[in-house]
Amino acid sequence: MLSEKIQTAINQQINEEIFSAYIYLAMAAEADRLGLPGFSNWFKLQYQEELGHADRFFNYVLERNGEVDLLPIQKPEIGGESALSLFEKALAHERHITGCISNLKDLAMSESDHATDVFLEWFVNEQVEEEANAQLVIDQLRLIDGNPNGLFMIDRELANRTISSEA
Ligand SMILES: [Fe+2]
Ligand SMILES: [Fe+2]
Repeated sequence: MLSEKIQTAINQQINEEIFSAYIYLAMAAEADRLGLPGFSNWFKLQYQEELGHADRFFNYVLERNGEVDLLPIQKPEIGGESALSLFEKALAHERHITGCISNLKDLAMSESDHATDVFLEWFVNEQVEEEANAQLVIDQLRLIDGNPNGLFMIDRELANRTISSEA
């Protein structure tokens, strides 16, 4: 049985993860518009990953015999971007999500909900990966400093991303 507080917070997190998916889907469209199919591929896979995150929370609520409450999804504010600004927005968003997971974990601990606390461990580790992934591309984009050849190379690299079962 989930406490009312935790159930509400997890339902909010389902919304955050679906909103994340929505942001990455908008980024995939924007990257395509910029003529960067590799970037677009990367964001599209990230979109799928985020749906997977939402799914994990969704399944967890049901497993604990809780009630899923699907909230309205915000419109993503993506437009007039560059490759760099897209990844800067991605990193800023992932930092926000890390904060959400942290708050959830604090709540689970304060409610002595050990099952939720353990369940959230996966997300704590996942957020380290998410921030590192975005940071790596930002570092590379800063290195090439707008050089078109460099940008094509990074685009080709990001085209290689495939779906991972680890999410
Ligand atoms: Fe996520
Ligand atoms: Fe990930």
